Amino acid sequence: MRQLRILAATFLLISAQGAVSQNVGLAIQPTDPVQVKPVNQAVLLTCKPTAQKELFTDLKWTDPRGEIVRQDKQQGQAVYTETLGTDGTLALIIRNLKESEAGVYSCSATYANSEKFVKNVTIETYVAITWEDAPSEQYPILHSDYKVKCKVHANPAPIVDWFKNNDAISTTDRYVIEANGLLIRRVTEADDGVYTCRAIVMNTGEYQERHIKVEVHTPPSFEEMPAEAEVVEGDSGSLTCRAKGKPSPTYTWIKEDTREELSNSLRFSTNPLTGILSISPAEKNDRGNYICKAKNAAGEVQRLVELGVVVRPHIDELINISLPAGSNEAHLKCVVSGWPLPHVTFQRVGSNERFTNGVQENDDRIVLEQERLPPTVPGGEERTQGHLTITDVVKSDDGLYACIATNKGGEALKNGHITVEFAPTFASTPLKEAWSWDNHPVNISCTAESIPNATITWRLNEREIDRDGNIKQIGNGPKSILQIIPIDRRYYGVYKCVGKNIHGEAQHDILLREAHPPSEILQAKREVITATTITFTFIGPSNDGGLPVRSYAVQYREGGRNWDEALNKTWPVDSPYILEGLEPQKSYSFRFSARNDVGFGNWAAEDYVTMPKRSSPEEPKIIATQVLDGVIMSPYLDRFELRWRIPPDNGEPIDLYEVKYCEARNSSDGWISEGNCRDLELPSSGPPSFHVTKVKPNTHYKVELRARNIIGYSVPGQAIFKTARDPTKTGPEPITEAREPVLSSSALVGIVVAGLFVLFVIVDISCFIFNKTGLTYMVTSGCGSKDRMDSEINRSAEKEPLKGPVVLINDDSLTKETEVEYDAKGDGTRVTIVPPRHSAV
Ligand SMILES: *[C@@H]1O[C@H](CO)[C@@H](O)[C@H](O)[C@H]1NC(C)=O
Ligand SMILES: *[C@@H]1O[C@H](CO)[C@@H](O)[C@H](O)[C@H]1NC(C)=O
Ligand SMILES: *[C@@H]1O[C@H](CO)[C@@H](O)[C@H](O)[C@H]1NC(C)=O
Ligand SMILES: *[C@@H]1O[C@H](CO)[C@@H](O)[C@H](O)[C@H]1NC(C)=O
Ligand SMILES: *[C@@H]1O[C@H](CO)[C@@H](O)[C@H](O)[C@H]1NC(C)=O
Ligand SMILES: *[C@@H]1O[C@H](CO)[C@@H](O)[C@H](O)[C@H]1NC(C)=O
Repeated sequence: MRQLRILAATFLLISAQGAVSQNVGLAIQPTDPVQVKPVNQAVLLTCKPTAQKELFTDLKWTDPRGEIVRQDKQQGQAVYTETLGTDGTLALIIRNLKESEAGVYSCSATYANSEKFVKNVTIETYVAITWEDAPSEQYPILHSDYKVKCKVHANPAPIVDWFKNNDAISTTDRYVIEANGLLIRRVTEADDGVYTCRAIVMNTGEYQERHIKVEVHTPPSFEEMPAEAEVVEGDSGSLTCRAKGKPSPTYTWIKEDTREELSNSLRFSTNPLTGILSISPAEKNDRGNYICKAKNAAGEVQRLVELGVVVRPHIDELINISLPAGSNEAHLKCVVSGWPLPHVTFQRVGSNERFTNGVQENDDRIVLEQERLPPTVPGGEERTQGHLTITDVVKSDDGLYACIATNKGGEALKNGHITVEFAPTFASTPLKEAWSWDNHPVNISCTAESIPNATITWRLNEREIDRDGNIKQIGNGPKSILQIIPIDRRYYGVYKCVGKNIHGEAQHDILLREAHPPSEILQAKREVITATTITFTFIGPSNDGGLPVRSYAVQYREGGRNWDEALNKTWPVDSPYILEGLEPQKSYSFRFSARNDVGFGNWAAEDYVTMPKRSSPEEPKIIATQVLDGVIMSPYLDRFELRWRIPPDNGEPIDLYEVKYCEARNSSDGWISEGNCRDLELPSSGPPSFHVTKVKPNTHYKVELRARNIIGYSVPGQAIFKTARDPTKTGPEPITEAREPVLSSSALVGIVVAGLFVLFVIVDISCFIFNKTGLTYMVTSGCGSKDRMDSEINRSAEKEPLKGPVVLINDDSLTKETEVEYDAKGDGTRVTIVPPRHSAV
């Protein structure tokens, strides 16, 4: 079979060669007389003599216009010829076939210099299907008519039809198939989809499809958004713009007045995708209208947003005012700027309340008003002025007033001053009298209160004070001190301090008086006499000479002696006035004097005393600090401390103290001994105290203390002691404990002491009021007369059994410890007060 084919081909080749050799002429290849070629492609045709080629000359190609095609490849000719090989073949080459190049091309040659041969070939072109304008993605706009473009070119002309999502589209009232596209009327979103534009050329058998994605675009439309925005000056802020649309719109912002686009500048930045315009920091001038543009392929919209810039309040002007008291009106003004226009109020510094607009409720003299001030320069800003008006100005209106400006950006505050001026007064100069003596320098001073400050001048006895070395003025206002050395009587008298300012003047008199020694003391009373001591009280001089009494003195002489030989003793005022070292049974004369800074007054209040004879010592008084219900509480379980005052020895030295103590029990008859008594003797040389040891806890002891001298034993000092309870011991309480208070004994003692201290202070104050004496004066000489005080105390002691001891402050011990002298005589429950040692009693 295969061999058969080869045989057939060989036969055909031989027969063709036979034909050529027989017919001299030209042959064009390809041989079809009509060549149909696509445009835009290269075409090659060859022409050669069929035999005896050496006899052919002038072989050439002629184009359809009859022009000879030149062999000009180099010149970039679109159509040219080229000799191929060695057998005389001339090729016609059309580089890129155009429709215009279609037509009859002739190949011609001269044979044997005489005969002309011509062979024609016709080139016909056709145009393949080309998509001239058929974008593969197209975006019609909602609600408009849109032609889906599909311009297709082919020659011969193609047949075009349409499919949407593979369904054929035929012309309806919505779709119109046109030559270069598919017209869709009133596009809806449902028109989205893939459209197919199909072209067919039956002649050439061409077939092509074009898939076109159609996406319906919607123009931007603004979403709901505020037409106003606010930002605080100096802060950062933003404006928002939001629009819907397909595709998503992009945004730009434009400032309306300057038409400046705020894409990205120093303080502004626009996000084109989100539509947010950021401002940082905002400035006052940023206030105004801003245009937001939202744009997409389907359209553009714009909208105005008004930006307000809140400017924090600022106090531009607050001027202090000064005006005299009694003025009709004080007017404090405060000019503030800010946006929105601030509200202005005032507040007195130190008060918590701000003034309210209009008349103040609690003071109708004060009115607060607001005023809008027009701009000071054209195009400037409005401001607010707050007015605080005070009518009928009084001195107390003087002070600092804060102006407070408020808007939504915040608050500003500044202090201003209303100074209320007034004429001088000397209300705070209490000094009316001054004393001096013997060239003793003295200062007198006065202070004039006034606004503005007063100047001060001095006059002495209604005369100007000339230059005087003995009077020196320090300061001339508002305070002035006059240092005076009164070297003679002329310097005593009325010093007039004159304070003057623009509103008036005032005067203040200070009397400089000459001080003298005190007058004679009125009375010296003997309070306590022992064989060797006398305790005095004094009723002071009727005239202290101008200065306080500093001390009292006594002169005393034995009977028959001269005053020149007298002894003396001086006590500072308020100390115990005890004269010691007197001899028993001797007679003495006494006389007394009071002394102030000037000196001693005259001797007076002479007295004559015969001292008692020697006797046993006085009672040693037991003293204690913690006393409850007449019982001295020991803080210890097994001991208590016995303390006493050394009693006067009545002429013979005390040689020992005798202590006796017994367990004791309270009964209706008072404290009675339970036995278990012990005696002790203590040397008199030791301190006046002793620890009684080895006693039982939580037990009452009755104690007696006697002092002994050569003459005998004193009356015993008595006291009831109680030792502390043993906290480790429990069990039934002894009967004597039945009345044990719930509170700890020390706490109760504290309460009692405090109560008594209050009582004492009350007594002291009443003394002060009625007698113009101090605390210590009271202690020494009692409230009024000593007799009265004694009877007072005795009476109160009789009327009601003492709940506790009366306590006196022992203020010379500096420890502020309270001590009582304890008197357990009689029923053993009554305690009488013995004034402290330093008392004048
Ligand atoms: C060849 O074409 C030319 C020009 O179109 C024409 O004049 C001539 O008669 C044609 N020759 C033949 C053999 O068809
Ligand atoms: C007003 O008085 C206040 C408080 O005394 C002071 O701080 C301020 O400086 C004064 N203002 C003027 C303008 O003098
Ligand atoms: C008087 O005042 C001056 C100055 O203040 C002072 O140095 C002096 O000690 C005072 N003199 C008397 C006696 O108070
Ligand atoms: C007024 O006197 C006071 C007290 O001495 C002083 O502090 C103040 O500065 C004075 N004022 C004037 C305006 O001199
Ligand atoms: C008290 O006596 C002393 C000496 O005994 C004497 O110097 C002094 O002046 C006397 N004082 C009075 C006030 O008599
Ligand atoms: C002692 O007894 C008397 C009378 O019974 C009573 O008033 C007093 O309060 C008692 N004292 C003490 C400390 O118990």
